[in-house]
Amino acid sequence: MNDLIYPIFVEEEIDAPLPVDSMPGVERIPEKALEGYVESVARDGVKALMMFGVSHYKNPTGSDSWNPDGLLARMVRKAKRAAPDLVIISDTCFCEYTDHGHCGPVEHDQVPNDVTIENLGHQAVVAIKAGADIVAPSAMMDGQVAAIRKALDAAGHPMAPIMAYSSKMASAFYGPFRAASGCDLKGDRKSYQMDPLNGREAIRESLLDEAEGADFLMVKPGMPYLDIIARLRQQILLPIVAYQVSGEYAMIKFAAAAGALDEPRIVRETLGAIKRAGADLILTYFARDIARQGF
Ligand code: PBG
Repeated sequence: MNDLIYPIFVEEEIDAPLPVDSMPGVERIPEKALEGYVESVARDGVKALMMFGVSHYKNPTGSDSWNPDGLLARMVRKAKRAAPDLVIISDTCFCEYTDHGHCGPVEHDQVPNDVTIENLGHQAVVAIKAGADIVAPSAMMDGQVAAIRKALDAAGHPMAPIMAYSSKMASAFYGPFRAASGCDLKGDRKSYQMDPLNGREAIRESLLDEAEGADFLMVKPGMPYLDIIARLRQQILLPIVAYQVSGEYAMIKFAAAAGALDEPRIVRETLGAIKRAGADLILTYFARDIARQGF
């Protein structure tokens, strides 16, 4: 249980939790109920949260995400206040805050790398100043780890850790997440995320992030990419994080609901396999159930 991170979705300006149809058991938490929610999750035994905001103030750059009074900063502050011992990880990206759903601004039909990494630096500083323990850049821009490290150092946070989504594939397994996070993506992310079938590129990207100063490296999705986790484990000493993503969760939930799979056993087996491959930490939407019921 100590190795699991629970991803949550927080929406501003709603009064009641909103179930996510494609992810049974997952709901968007109203910002106004966040403190109570975080307290109860901590009481259940969850040790770390990855936070995603569902913004009502989207614009072409996603600038609400680096507004010190915007949703991202507020939810980090509230979560930290509610459960100071819980590790709060702030997903550092723009796709929940841009009106086109891309992970940065769009210019001439492209997401410009250098502007985006500068903005990621602004967002990371705001998240850390709000109290986040770790920032987790997931935009897959070149040089994003170095840019964030530089911005955090310059803002007086040289010790703030970076959990880099490093080997992140342009995967169809993120489908349910897009609904959960209210990301209405037009197009795809193939110009910045990686080709799912190119294993060598996945290793190269993680090694680059290590060289740029990442403190953790993440492989995402989890189960279809156990080979990447295992190969990385042999090459690096940094902690490896794996993300059992929304599509993996949905497959298990719907198959279990249809009576085809035994959910607790499958959860145990899939997370165990990710560990066996070499991951130290796992992001999973099953984390709260496991905290309550045991592994
Ligand atoms: C992007 C982000 C995504 C996920 C986590 N961070 C979606 C994407 O890259 O399109 C997916 C997680 C999941 O599917 O559970 N900020």
